[in-house]
Amino acid sequence: MTHPNYVIDEMISAKAIAARIEDLARDIRSEFADTNKLVVVGLLRGSFVFIADLVRELDLPVEVDFLEASSYGDGMESTREVRILKDLRGRIEGRDVLIVEDIVDTGHTLAHVTKFLWSRKPARMKTIALLDKPARREVDLKADWIGFEIPDEFVVGYGIDFAQRNRNLGFIGKVRFLDEA
Ligand code: IMP
Ligand code: MG
Repeated sequence: MTHPNYVIDEMISAKAIAARIEDLARDIRSEFADTNKLVVVGLLRGSFVFIADLVRELDLPVEVDFLEASSYGDGMESTREVRILKDLRGRIEGRDVLIVEDIVDTGHTLAHVTKFLWSRKPARMKTIALLDKPARREVDLKADWIGFEIPDEFVVGYGIDFAQRNRNLGFIGKVRFLDEA
């Protein structure tokens, strides 16, 4: 798409994100203060920027792993049927686990992933999402930590894409479509 028919309006600045991550990291550090290893699991691909910033604020023995679940394809609607496309490399049995998600929207992805990982019997497992869109929820679920609650808008940036674009923006912006004319 050479001429996208949308513009991006800033919603959360890079500075606000950084400040919020410091607060979240403090809470996570105290929750897992006694851990001998925390496996931080990023859900690909949207969480890659968030997890990079978050783990650098965590003064804990941390291991990083990734999991990829299918959801959106290239569209703007969740498919609801979640599949695991790429599994973890490491074992989590008896370990402390933190699942890192970019956005909780309908909730299907996080619900499926937590159920999938609980079956491996981690000692403790918590979830964190940078963004939460409670208005869109279809599954009764809330992440243990949330960066920002946002309205029902389609957002991009800071790792989050629209049809694979705009992941490289430093801020979170909302997509605003221009008239077709
Ligand atoms: P859920 O299963 O409906 O909760 O979908 C969660 C996934 O949908 C997130 O991990 C995102 O990858 C994607 N998603 C949800 N809302 C947006 C958005 O506003 N922009 C881009 N991707 C989104
Ligand atoms: Mg995602």
